[in-house]
Amino acid sequence: MKKLIIIALLSIGTLSLIAAEKPNGQALAQKCIGCHGADFGKKALNISKVVKGMKANEIAKELKGYKKGTFGGPMKAIMRGQVASYSDADIKAVSDYIASLK
Ligand code: HEC
Repeated sequence: MKKLIIIALLSIGTLSLIAAEKPNGQALAQKCIGCHGADFGKKALNISKVVKGMKANEIAKELKGYKKGTFGGPMKAIMRGQVASYSDADIKAVSDYIASLK
């Protein structure tokens, strides 16, 4: 019985660790809002499309493209710098967050 309780406690501990490591999309989006606006409703530097209203998977696809250098317009270097350090999980989290904005 004691053993079972220990195993149960250990697995709860592991689960909360996983939860804590999930990237926080809202936090990851803070550096974007200077250009894109707090609700992503602005054309960044008057050049980008308005990101607000895009679907999460579209945003993630474009951000991965910027990171790899396979997507973008004349100012793609700016966006490449923004997402260079973002993992795929970070990109998913920030895209989900942006798509959830009303
Ligand atoms: C320094 C200003 C700046 C910051 C900060 C910035 N962006 Fe951008 N963003 C731009 C510009 C300029 C473009 C258009 C680039 C191009 O020519 O492709 C763009 C394009 C985009 C696009 C593609 C929209 C389109 O035109 O198809 C997405 C999505 C995007 N940004 C999301 C983000 C996210 C998410 C962050 C934060 C991690 C961020 N941006 C931070 C300036 C910025």
